[in-house]
Amino acid sequence: MKKLMIINGPNLNLLGKREPEIYGSQTFEDYFQELKSKFRDVNLEYYQSNIEGEIIDKLQKVGFSYDGIILNAAAYTHTSVGIGDAIKGIETPVVEVHISNTFAREEFRHHSYISPNAKGVVLGFGLKSYDLAIESFY
Ligand code: DQA
Repeated sequence: MKKLMIINGPNLNLLGKREPEIYGSQTFEDYFQELKSKFRDVNLEYYQSNIEGEIIDKLQKVGFSYDGIILNAAAYTHTSVGIGDAIKGIETPVVEVHISNTFAREEFRHHSYISPNAKGVVLGFGLKSYDLAIESFY
């Protein structure tokens, strides 16, 4: 069975409560259960951290043995050279995900340190962006 790791960055632990007009009203924990029952033939894991270094540690830890990483680095997408470098340094392909269409939002969200190092990018489809990213590993 393929092993896929979903990594969520800062403030995504607040999904359901945080700016629901942009990010929806479902918690990620609830949505993750739906994903697990939808994709029964892959081994799906989920990790969230608000701390940049912890996200880098997780990328390094799974990045030589898992089949895929689905990364929503949230605000660190636009700031983190370190996360970009970590993706460059590991072997597991990373698909970048965003719930919102970052290109339809403020200019500072238009730049990503993740995209140049990602296998692909899925954004703007709400939580469904994660479904589409998982499907890309089939
Ligand atoms: C986000 C978009 C980022 O710009 C923002 O900082 C987030 C969430 C998204 O999923 O739409 O926290 O990554």
